[in-house]
Amino acid sequence: MQDYHEFLADILIPKEILQKRVMELGVQISQDYAGKEPILICILRGGVMFLTDLMRSISIPHSIEFMAVSSYGSGRRESSGSVRITLDLGVNIESRHVILVEDIIDSGRTISSVLELLSARHPDTLRVCTLLDKAERREVEVPIAYRGFTIPDRFVFGYGLDIDEFYRNLPFIGVVDLARYNLGTEPVNDEVD
Ligand code: IMP
Ligand code: MG
Repeated sequence: MQDYHEFLADILIPKEILQKRVMELGVQISQDYAGKEPILICILRGGVMFLTDLMRSISIPHSIEFMAVSSYGSGRRESSGSVRITLDLGVNIESRHVILVEDIIDSGRTISSVLELLSARHPDTLRVCTLLDKAERREVEVPIAYRGFTIPDRFVFGYGLDIDEFYRNLPFIGVVDLARYNLGTEPVNDEVD
């Protein structure tokens, strides 16, 4: 794998700023859901790092669940929006307070399909918490209850977000210079994450 320094255009959100904002979101969720025992649902795999940091800042009782979805006919860097569940939840969410935890909302297609699938299971409440919002790319309107940062239309990586499945481990959000990124490898799978 290429050393990320070779294609890092700039660091969009440094580690310290990320950590501070994630903590604020956790505090906000703790206040809003006091007495409610929400369930945080993370869409694999991009949201994992955000989820684990977020939970550390949530002081009220809550549980976590994971799901994975695939996007039909997706391009390499974008989703088609028509999703299929490849890993379903292990619990029934009927009458639960659900918070969907996402790494990034781009066109909004993935999350709106997931919201549709989950609302058919009749949770008591269903809200979206996203770390990043690429707002100017939105094609489908998505109600966002918790938003870490609104970012420009650039391809970003790190802190859970991948480029062709790698670099998720980096503690910051970086911008890819696509001209300097080696485009020789194919994506590992068609999952949207
Ligand atoms: P949407 O359906 O267009 O909103 O796509 C959302 C999904 O696209 C996210 O869950 C990510 O997997 C992926 N994605 C969108 N933008 C980026 C990016 O800048 N970096 C990494 N993944 C991205
Ligand atoms: Mg991805």
